[in-house]
Amino acid sequence: MAANRFNSFKELGVGIGLRIPHYEHILTKKPVCDWFEIISENFMIDGGRPLHLLDQILEQYQVVQHGVSMYFGSAEPLNREHLQRLKNLVRRTKTPWLSDHLCWGSVDGSYSHDLLPMPYTFEAARVTAQKIKEARDFLEVPIAVENVSSYAEFHVSEMTEWEFLNEVVERADCGILLDVNNIYVSSQNHSFNPFTYLESVPIERVAQIHIAGHSKYEKYILDTHDHAVIDPVWKLYARAIELAGPTPTLLEWDDHIPSFDEVHAEALKANRYLPAEVPSTGLAGTQSVPSAVADGFSAGTR
Ligand SMILES: [Fe+2]
Repeated sequence: MAANRFNSFKELGVGIGLRIPHYEHILTKKPVCDWFEIISENFMIDGGRPLHLLDQILEQYQVVQHGVSMYFGSAEPLNREHLQRLKNLVRRTKTPWLSDHLCWGSVDGSYSHDLLPMPYTFEAARVTAQKIKEARDFLEVPIAVENVSSYAEFHVSEMTEWEFLNEVVERADCGILLDVNNIYVSSQNHSFNPFTYLESVPIERVAQIHIAGHSKYEKYILDTHDHAVIDPVWKLYARAIELAGPTPTLLEWDDHIPSFDEVHAEALKANRYLPAEVPSTGLAGTQSVPSAVADGFSAGTR
């Protein structure tokens, strides 16, 4: 599949989140890694050690920005000071796109620091899409919105989560950061078929994919980003790549973080699912997905 206008970087490959425990290894060993994703909020400052370290990373690696506090779904206007700081960082990193979550998390200037699920209503979609467009126009960089994992739903919802995602991105004309682990976590918590969700996504808008591990409890699954990716999530990933073709992929590992090599090796498993004709850009070899296995993926897990 050719690159689309939300993804001119099909060959970017497989990256991992840039995390503090790996800084020394990265700066001294300079390991091969296709790209790093940074949390924008960690670097929206005027100077000091974090930016000094970031500049050293930028000298050698492609960096893509991912945010956690834009709150496109909150009803209040975008914070202009926050946007200006973000724009300064966008210019510094030259990120090819910028992602944040399809969620809300603030009311009247008070911030929850959580990624709260949206009420899936047409009005919420309209307001959210308008804010995404405003942010894109100000930041002058493509924006991809990420589906979040959720543990609660609103009675006022007028559509499914995947219908809401479609509604928002079509109205905003923006890209998608498709988190297949989040789809899996929510599918388990809300009892829907994750493949129904995946196959409803406007695949031509997928700019990036997230994979991650999670924790399973007796009555629910928590999106903890502290484990390797489980097999059902890899099956969803395989189906996403089957639909979208090669897509920049990022492994999130945010707690109980193992060594750089262990995290990177887990991320590079994604190369197994690339089509055979596309060369791998990472350390792992490229391997096609057997069609019989791929066929099994579309059947869904539940
Ligand atoms: Fe994610």
